[in-house]
Amino acid sequence: MEPTQTLTPPYFRPRRNRKSPAIRRLVQETLLTPSDFVYPQFILSGSGDPVPIASMPGIYRLPLEALLHAAEKTLQLGIPAMALFPVINPELKDPHGSEALNPNGILPQTISALKKRFPELCLITDIALDPYHSHGHDGLVGDAGEVLNDETLERLAQMALVQAEAGVDMVAPSDMMDGRVRVIRERLDSHGYTQVSILSYAAKYASSFYGPFRDALSSSPSKGDKKGYQMDPANSREALLEATLDIEEGADILMVKPALPYLDILCKIREITHLPLSAYHVSGEYAMVMAAAQKGWLDADQVFHESLLSIKRAGADMIFTYAAHQIAPLL
Ligand code: PBG
Repeated sequence: MEPTQTLTPPYFRPRRNRKSPAIRRLVQETLLTPSDFVYPQFILSGSGDPVPIASMPGIYRLPLEALLHAAEKTLQLGIPAMALFPVINPELKDPHGSEALNPNGILPQTISALKKRFPELCLITDIALDPYHSHGHDGLVGDAGEVLNDETLERLAQMALVQAEAGVDMVAPSDMMDGRVRVIRERLDSHGYTQVSILSYAAKYASSFYGPFRDALSSSPSKGDKKGYQMDPANSREALLEATLDIEEGADILMVKPALPYLDILCKIREITHLPLSAYHVSGEYAMVMAAAQKGWLDADQVFHESLLSIKRAGADMIFTYAAHQIAPLL
């Protein structure tokens, strides 16, 4: 049989808008820039060498000297912010997270040293007790092994105050206790820190993508899991509830975490608030790409670029990513 010649040529041709690099640039809807990034770093006390993290190639636990270099490079790359996560010596961990309240602890000292050298660099610190707890949970643990909410709030408020006194720009409660944004806001305000922002991890899921982060800080829970406070990956209405409560309690910026598997959540929260939104492209998301790249199976630069662009397209104004230093020079 002869092939039929009856096909009508398309009337609509969206490909005209893709026909040259110049036109593709003109119609591009989302533009990724180094200004979108927050660079998370793991900090180490003492003056030794940077210590590599096996599951996060290219990322190190950094003593102060090396951290100052990283901060300088961050600014040179046009990245406005760093998020700091302290590695706490095992002998300083206890069931009450006492070290989190030490005004001379590694985190307050690092904040003031960084602020002194690089006042223009925005510093964001985590408010959660897990790195300081011998049991690894984000909150205090009761006799029956339950994570105590209201008792934890007081510690979180004190922790935020210690960091504000050290000069942090934003505190980022990542613990998922109920009511923590309000308690932290009130504590900061009553001590005159009305200009310290709260970036709340509003929708933080109980995710398996945090594995490499917990390797980096040796902060895995020694018993149980975090499902009693972090969210069920099956839920999205609940994320809207969490976001709404954090807005009412006074958050300045909301976060969704992890990022890529939760773009739908980002998109939905984008629709219910005018607050800036952030997304955390977490350790496991970074590790997967780096592992595949080391095997020669993926191009890490291209996959990171596409991933971060997608996160921004879905509604994030800012992205916490370990790939920040790698990708910023390519933008
Ligand atoms: C601590 C905290 C975690 C992350 C950020 N803050 C781990 C956890 O909740 O267990 C994960 C970040 C990452 O995986 O990159 N509350």
